[in-house]
Amino acid sequence: MSSTLIPPTAQNAAAASDRTIEPFPDHHNDLSATLKFAWQMVGRGVQDRRSAFHTPVLATQSADGPQARVLVLRAFDVATRTLTFHTDTRSAKLPELTQDNRVALTFYDAARKVQLRLGGVATVHANDALSHQRWAAARPSSLRCYLGAQPGAPSPEPTSGLPSQVEGREPEWQELAVAEPNFAVLQIAAQRLEWLHLHTRGQRRALFTWGSSDAGGDCAMQWLNP
Ligand SMILES: Cc1cc2nc3c(=O)[nH]c(=O)nc-3n(C[C@H](O)[C@H](O)[C@H](O)COP(=O)(O)O)c2cc1C
Repeated sequence: MSSTLIPPTAQNAAAASDRTIEPFPDHHNDLSATLKFAWQMVGRGVQDRRSAFHTPVLATQSADGPQARVLVLRAFDVATRTLTFHTDTRSAKLPELTQDNRVALTFYDAARKVQLRLGGVATVHANDALSHQRWAAARPSSLRCYLGAQPGAPSPEPTSGLPSQVEGREPEWQELAVAEPNFAVLQIAAQRLEWLHLHTRGQRRALFTWGSSDAGGDCAMQWLNP
């Protein structure tokens, strides 16, 4: 039977019953449990490459206005609310962060219908103990890009930017050594987290803030109108 033959009231009833199928999650009306779930999603974003939270968008301020780009989330420490990323020392975002280290990170999981907006301050580590440790622990395939020419610089021709000898293959560790000075670790300490959960039976928005940059700082929590 064509849907146009279903009386409007029956259509409405079917739609309403569909909506009741989606249960509320346990954390739906609980601020502490919502925060815990949000951090679990961020943690999952580190471990699961297929997680939508694996690739958040990082926003910075530049002299020309806001800039936003996707980065891979590499590590997360819930105790200090620190998120870790890898980037290139020669990329445009580094001087932007030197000018103003306040950043925003946006995550969206379309399956769970959850958006997280984090605000915090960034610290760049290059040629220090942390950057050496993370360089040594990374896979050569994920470090190959640091062998490339300066990111964002103009090129007279289409290019991957990579030296031809490593094009299309994983480099050896000894080939990568010259690229380590181009490698930086970017850490973001979250000071603000905004939760938004789209739910057919009642959306929820909540704000979590930490007063100071101290790791164990108290969290202020409140619901917001979505
Ligand atoms: C899926 C995906 C993952 C990316 N991961 C990273 C990353 O981990 N680190 C990084 O510096 N850039 C990464 N990029 C590239 C950035 O989005 C961006 O183009 C680059 O960092 C240059 O940005 P900037 O010119 O603002 O510094 C990724 C891009 C995509 C699409």
